[in-house]
Amino acid sequence: MEKLVSNWYGIVQPLPENYIFPPDARPGKLSTAPSIPNCNIPVIDLGSQGHDRDQIIQKILEASQEFGFFQVINHGIPDASLNDAMAVFKEFFELPLEDKEASIHSDDPNIVCKLYTSGVNYDWEPVHLWRDILRHPCHPLEKFMPLWPKQPIKYREHVGKCSTQVRKLALSILELISEGLGIGSQYFNDGVTQQTLLYVNYYPPCPDPSLTLGISKHCDPQLITILLQGDVSGLQVFKDGEWIGVEPLSHGLVVNIGHQLQIISNGKLKCAEHRAVTNSSNARMSAAFFITPSPDCYIEPAAALINASNPQLYKGFQYKEFSAHFYMNQGNTEVALEPFK
Ligand code: SIN
Ligand code: FE2
Repeated sequence: MEKLVSNWYGIVQPLPENYIFPPDARPGKLSTAPSIPNCNIPVIDLGSQGHDRDQIIQKILEASQEFGFFQVINHGIPDASLNDAMAVFKEFFELPLEDKEASIHSDDPNIVCKLYTSGVNYDWEPVHLWRDILRHPCHPLEKFMPLWPKQPIKYREHVGKCSTQVRKLALSILELISEGLGIGSQYFNDGVTQQTLLYVNYYPPCPDPSLTLGISKHCDPQLITILLQGDVSGLQVFKDGEWIGVEPLSHGLVVNIGHQLQIISNGKLKCAEHRAVTNSSNARMSAAFFITPSPDCYIEPAAALINASNPQLYKGFQYKEFSAHFYMNQGNTEVALEPFK
């Protein structure tokens, strides 16, 4: 396995050259001020009294149209559950290298559970990202849990519980969205929401955050993402030509629109480009739960959203065609949607 950055911290100094981005892709001065104020990524209260369902739907749709991102509070997932999951993720990345590797060893030929560094294209990417990733599917639990890390000992219990709750929340947000779009509450049926895929990102403190990135600019190709980002900032969203920080909220979860939801909504909702910057003092972790269509699922703009004044913006396709194209182009946002227009 390539050298995991989580096992480098304290050893590597200065930043190795193959982690230095070209000047126009570097975070530059933003990264020297890691606490970028949360300009206005909307925060939506899902549970408080006095917020009726219609108001919540309205806020979700507005945020999804304008930003492609929002945070939710009072979302119903107990803090303990989120904290327990983040704690076992941290413990996992702090294991010695051999224990990490041994912990996810699997005889499954499809290697659905994977630990790697930077990105999937490590061998041919021009510059590496300052992160390690643990990736595995979460749904259905009975099928995938036996492939998850064996260590830390509580990993399966805590992540199993958290992923079930996060999936339930994601499906309820999708139901609010489909209601708001007027496409019927059953639009996001089993095929469109078949999988929950988890990516746990670990960004160790970085020798020079101004020169590198934890994740470079991208949009998520799936349907919708729920992100736990702990209490260290680093996530930034590109809006109107500027990078704005999504500051961690102690009990909040970040939600963002993926390419598939942009397409199904015929462009009404948008996915926004985002990236993660590193910092020199604190390790940062984020756990992204992606709700993903089945490979054979046919995706197309919802018929109810197409009319004379709203012509169809995207062709229909099978999700596997989209993901193949997306990953072949390394997630390049400009080209991701091009063949499907
Ligand atoms: C992601 O885009 O998948 C994760 C971003 C983050 O680490 O906040
Ligand atoms: Fe992302």
